[in-house]
Order: sequence, then C-alpha cells, then structure tokens
Amino acid sequence: MVNDNENVEKVIDEGRQGSALTLEDVQDNTRKLYIESYGCQMNFSDSEIVASILSKEGFNTTQQMEEADLVLVNTCSIREKAETTVRKRLEKFNAVKKINPNMKVGVLGCMAERLKSKFLEEEKIVDMVVGPDAYKDLPNLIQEIDEGRSAVNVILSKDETYGDVAPVRLNSNGVTAFVSITRGCDNMCTFCVVPFTRGRERSRDPQSIIEEVNDLWSRGFREITLLGQNVDSYLWYGGGLKKDFDKASEMQKATSVNFARLLHLVALAQPKMRIRFSTSNPQDMTLDVIETMAQHENICKYIHLPVQSGSDRILKAMNRLHTRQEYFELIDNIKQIIPECAISQDMITGFPTETEEDHQDTLSLMEYVKYDFGFMFAYSERPGTMAARKLEDDVPAEVKKRRLREIIDLQQKHGLYRTQQHLGKVEEVLIEGLSKKSDAHWMGRNSQNTVVVFPKEQYQKGDFVNVKINDCTSATLIGEAVGFSKNN
Ligand code: SAH
Ligand code: F3S
Repeated sequence: MVNDNENVEKVIDEGRQGSALTLEDVQDNTRKLYIESYGCQMNFSDSEIVASILSKEGFNTTQQMEEADLVLVNTCSIREKAETTVRKRLEKFNAVKKINPNMKVGVLGCMAERLKSKFLEEEKIVDMVVGPDAYKDLPNLIQEIDEGRSAVNVILSKDETYGDVAPVRLNSNGVTAFVSITRGCDNMCTFCVVPFTRGRERSRDPQSIIEEVNDLWSRGFREITLLGQNVDSYLWYGGGLKKDFDKASEMQKATSVNFARLLHLVALAQPKMRIRFSTSNPQDMTLDVIETMAQHENICKYIHLPVQSGSDRILKAMNRLHTRQEYFELIDNIKQIIPECAISQDMITGFPTETEEDHQDTLSLMEYVKYDFGFMFAYSERPGTMAARKLEDDVPAEVKKRRLREIIDLQQKHGLYRTQQHLGKVEEVLIEGLSKKSDAHWMGRNSQNTVVVFPKEQYQKGDFVNVKINDCTSATLIGEAVGFSKNN
C-alpha cells in the first residue's frame, strides 16, 4: 500500500542512490553526471536513455552530486506535491553549487515540459530545460550551456520512441528491468497532466523491443516490465502517431502489431523471461490481452488496472470512457480466464463535485474487486487540464484526506484478505535481492507481484525458487524455499 507521501519518498530515496554504469560504458569518460529521477516508472526508464545518450558524450555517472559536472533532475508534474519536492531539491542543488561553482544543472521530464523557459526565470540555478521528447538534443544543449548560455528544448515529437537507444541500466538489481513500448497518451482524462507533458501517443517498433528483451536476457535479467501510459493502446504500423493509424496504407494496417500480439511475440522470444506490463486502462484493455496472458506461462498473473472512482458520474466527469458496470465485467472476465490473477488500482479521492454518495460508490467498488494492492491519492488540481479549466476544486482538503484514509484502510483490509489466500501454497519466486529488514533473507516476488521474503539458504539473486508461504502481512508473504523451480 502506498500513499502519496510514501510514493514520492521512495522515489527520492532511489534517486539518491545514484547510478552505476557497466565497464564498457565507462571507457574514456571523463565528465561526471549525477542524475536523480522522480515520479513514474517511465521517468526512471527515460533517465536510463539519457545516461546512454550522455555516455557517448563522455559522461560517466556518479553517486556524489558534489563532484558532478552536470546535475540532471528528471521531474514529475502529476500532483502539486511532486513539483514541490523537485523545487526543494533545487534548493539543495543551489547549496552544492556554492561549493562546486562549475556544476551545471538541467531539468528534464514533465515539469520541464510544463513550465518551459519559465523554469529559467523561476529557478535561477537551472541552466537547461529539456522536455521528454528532446533527449537526443542533449549533446547540443550541453554545448550551449558549456559556452555559458542557457538552453531549452521542449519540442514534443510525432515519432520519437528512443527505440534505437540502448538504455544504460541505473540503480539496477541486475534481475528486473523496464522496457518502454509507448510514449505519450491520447486519453485526456480530465484530471491528468500527462497528455500535455508527454504529448500524443506513439508506439515503438516491436523488433527493437524484442532485441532489447533478448539483450537483457543474455545479460542475466530475468524479468521485464513493458512500460507505457496506456499499454493496451499499443499499435505499431510502421511508425507515427496512434491517431494517424486511419491514414496508414492497407499493407501497414494488415501487418500492424497490437498489444496482445506484442505480448505474444515477447513471450515467445524469451520463454523463460518473466513478463509484466504497466499500465492498463480499463477502456482500452481487450479480451485478447487477457487470453494471451493465459496462454503464456511466463506472462505474470498481475494487472495494474486503475479505475480512479467507483461512481459513474465521477468517471464521466473524469473522461474515463467506461462505466462501473463495464469495469465489473472486465474484472469478471479476468478472474474467469485467469482465476489467480492479481489486480491493483489507482484511486483519486475528492475529484471536483465528489459527494459522499460518490465516495461510497468507490468503497463498494473496492469491496466487489478486493484489490491485491493499490495506489491512492487526493485530487490535486493541475494547471491547464480540462478539470482545472472547467471545474472548481471544491472538495475541502480535510474531506479529501478523510476519504483517502477510508479507502487506504479498506485497501489494507483487502490486501490482507488477498495475501492470506496464498498461505500454505508453494509459489514460484524470482529473487531480486536482500530483504530490506534482514541480510539473512531474500526478497523476491511471486507471479502476482506480491513481495515474498524467505531465508537465503543456498539460493542466489536471479534464481527462480519455489517458496512455501507460511505467514503474511497485508503486503508481504513470508515463507521458506523448498527447491529451485522448473524455470531455473
Ligand atoms: N496511465 C498512467 C497514469 C499516470 S498517473 C500510468 O501509466 O500509470 C498515475 C496515477 O496518478 C493515476 O492513475 C491517478 O490515480 C493519479 N493522478 C493523476 N493525476 C492526478 C491528479 N491530478 N491528482 C491526483 N492524482 C492524480
Ligand atoms: Fe493520464 Fe489518463 Fe493517460 S490518467 S496518462 S490521461 S490514461
């Protein structure tokens, strides 16, 4: 269970760990890059692309900001708090710049795209502002700032997917990795800033996705998460925006690849690689995706399926293009086709005009689904979105907070209900690293994405192990290994 606060803090923590490059990447690199990432998994994945582009420019990453020639912060705009966190970090950068006056500071990601050159005026420490589609321009922009000018590129692209950039894995556990498959989002949920900061939706060439997955397998990675704002909307027809698909030739249409097909291709390319994906949007998820999941043992039984609200009226105001009933039907289909499938949610409390009755609808929807876990937030008005322009942010902060508390409490209860269903079972776990609480225990996940902790014995990181589940909390399973799984 993660609330807003924890989510942001976790991200900061990961950001502070700095980054590691492989040996081939460090040859001849003399300048030092420090990069911090905030927000969604896509931002972490983008930072790996940025590190790759800059490693070719002579930059090696460092974990010490104090010794960096270039400090980059990959930012998030999703809620006001995410932006405040970044502004606070810039104050820290300012203090470091006093010790290291040659250090240059660049802002990447969604805040860069949202604020554009205004950033340079508002935050004097910032030398460079780069939007999510402009990272290939970084070499030129860095030259500008090296010559003492400020630099801005926030142009959004029709076809940039960075499919040709091999990411440098930062903060990697060497076992799990993100592979981005789409960029941007066309859904225009009325509360969401992403369509404005990340542009229109486009998909990456399936061949380059498969090559990346093959390469990850050969380097010892055992699990990948296919990433997109809305993965079910993936559609490759030779490049270009999703919205221009209608204009594609008959040949392009006939050979196009949708998300179900992509999943199938990736699952076949590496039959032992565990495959996850995130995020699914209920209005775009189709039965063929669920059926493809059921056909391949290496596709994990887990779907992150944000719903945001249980009230039909609020769903409509959010421009979520499905009803409560249609969502239930989707859930029923998932549970029928993949009975053991775990499902998680994102929820927003206190969207404009949300009444107590709407809130009760959210609680009763949760009661129906009994999610395995969830990410819950109080509504935060984002400038420029349809909700900000048309609707007053009229639910008082304390009401948003109380409703948030209630859904978090209910989620915790459901989390426990779900973890208890695993008791006594033997489940395959992929070991990701040491347990946070004990060096004598491994931490890994089962197919359903639930964290499993167990004594280390002879097993190693990256092993697939069968674990008997003996105990649980609302978010963690505790067990003991009974042998390698057949996948090992
Ligand atoms: N499709 C995306 C959603 C990105 S935003 C994905 O890949 O996850 C992640 C979550 O943040 C959303 O599902 C929503 O629950 C929450 N969120 C987005 N905008 C918000 C806002 N203005 N206020 C509060 N929460 C918001
Ligand atoms: Fe945002 Fe809705 Fe897209 S939440 S990322 S506009 S699916």
